[in-house]
Amino acid sequence: MSAEKNFWYIFAESAELKKDKPLKRKILGENLVGFRDKNGKAIILLDYCLHRSGKLSEGWIENGCLVCPFHGWKYNNEAKVCRIPAEGNESKLLKKDLKAKKFLVEEKQGYIYVCLSEQVLPQNKPFDYPYYQNTNWATVRFKNLFENNVINCVENFIDVPHTVFVHPGIFRSEKGQKIEAIIESKNGKVYINYQNENSISNFNWFFNSSKQQIKHTDIFITPNITNVNYKVLNNCQYIITSQSVPVDEWQTMVYTDISYNFGLLTQIAKPIVQNQAEQVLRQDLKILKEQAENIKQFKKKFIDTEADLIHTLISELRDKTIAGENISELPEIKTKISFYI
Ligand code: FES
Ligand SMILES: [Fe+2]
Repeated sequence: MSAEKNFWYIFAESAELKKDKPLKRKILGENLVGFRDKNGKAIILLDYCLHRSGKLSEGWIENGCLVCPFHGWKYNNEAKVCRIPAEGNESKLLKKDLKAKKFLVEEKQGYIYVCLSEQVLPQNKPFDYPYYQNTNWATVRFKNLFENNVINCVENFIDVPHTVFVHPGIFRSEKGQKIEAIIESKNGKVYINYQNENSISNFNWFFNSSKQQIKHTDIFITPNITNVNYKVLNNCQYIITSQSVPVDEWQTMVYTDISYNFGLLTQIAKPIVQNQAEQVLRQDLKILKEQAENIKQFKKKFIDTEADLIHTLISELRDKTIAGENISELPEIKTKISFYI
């Protein structure tokens, strides 16, 4: 059985789940509904009414309980049916502990996470954003529905060679520069350490005007998170974290956090960072949609270049993870690649 359900996925941003309205989402093909109880605690249920299969997400909130729009059955914060209007207060059914399917929820750093299985391992925790609400840092956050699957999204977010073609002038421009990287796959993560980068283009004028070497490190955290980290000098840093949440086989909801610290320019730079990120995301949305259309039509194998070894290692790790293999028992891999951009 797939272990893909044993992980935490972002259900929504905290601000999206209001106190007075249920919120509908789909993750791994499951229709879900979220609501907040009287204390504001997030509750996530299967979007399915036990009575006659109504859609709870089309219902409403009454005193922190969720009401089905069909015949008014009411579900409390334990997912228990606590009112059946047609039966009155003496209903025998109410004594029967009727419960909708309820999922594990954690709310943290402005995100609501859900786990679709009871099998969540203690070491699987929602991602921790180290600079979230840190006063020296700023964060811009995006949510986008990609028309492609998780692995192709994840690959794209740490794929360097595509940046010169899909995002010309934003990240890099093609210069035929040889790049070397050390790749390590261990403990459920793939680390990519770039050895000799000195330009990320448009940001260079204030980010790296003296052309210092950039410390660029990417990390893939199985099964669905990427973290791209650029560092110049001691206090100039730019981190893009993407959580790719599988909606269904060919749709992925991607939550992107860009946290950066440009010293005194941090706040002033916010509109520029926001604007450029939106442009980059639009370009990736388009290219990944086109890729998925071709994959579905042609169903051919990919051809790998040396740079694609990163993707191969990520795919292998992700496949093993969702097949339920024990991550800590997988052999460690360390290798070096080089390619041109
Ligand atoms: S289907 Fe939900 S109350 Fe009847
Ligand atoms: Fe991209």
